[in-house]
Amino acid sequence: MAKFFLIGYMGSGKSTAGEKLASKLNYDFIDLDKWIEAEYEQTIPEIFATKGEEGFRAIEHNSLKSLMEKNNVVIACGGGTPCYYNNMELMNNNGVTVYIKMSVDSLVNRLQNAKVKRPLIENKTEKELHAFVSRQLEKREDIYHKAQYTVKGKDININELADFVKQQVGV
Ligand code: S3P
Repeated sequence: MAKFFLIGYMGSGKSTAGEKLASKLNYDFIDLDKWIEAEYEQTIPEIFATKGEEGFRAIEHNSLKSLMEKNNVVIACGGGTPCYYNNMELMNNNGVTVYIKMSVDSLVNRLQNAKVKRPLIENKTEKELHAFVSRQLEKREDIYHKAQYTVKGKDININELADFVKQQVGV
C-alpha cells in the first residue's frame, strides 16, 4: 500500500508522468488541480480570480489533506503545492515524494504555449516568463529538494521510474 506524490515546477510534466506511472503500478491517478476543479466546481483561474492566491492555497492544502486517506494512488501536485503550509512534510510523512526536475530553459519552452490555464504566468512575455521561472524555481527548489527521490524530467523513462519505485517501496 503506497501513495506517490509527484512534485515539480509548472510544465515539468507531473500529470503526464503521474498518469503513466499509475497505470504501470495499477494504481489510481489523481491530478490535484483537476480534483480541486471538480470538487469546487470552478477552474483554477476562476478560483484565483474570486478567492485570490491565498484562497487557492487554503483550498489546495485542505484538498491535499483530504487525499491522505487514499491508498494505491499516484497524485500529481500543482507546482506550488509543496511550498505552502506544511504540505511537503505532510506528503513526506504519508507517502513517497518524487521531484521531477527540469531546467529553466526547458520549462520556459514548455510553458510558452501553456500559459492560459496558469494564472501566475498568463500575461508574461517570453522574457518576463524566463525571469519569473528562474527566480521562482530558485526559491522553490529548496523545498522541492526535500523530496525523497529526484528524477530528470526531460528524459524521464516511466518504465525505469516504475521499476525503481517498486523496488524502493516494495509495491
Ligand atoms: C501553480 C501551479 C499550477 C496550479 C496553479 C499554481 C504554481 O499547477 O496549481 O496555477 O504555483 O506553480 P501546474 O504545476 O500543474 O501547472
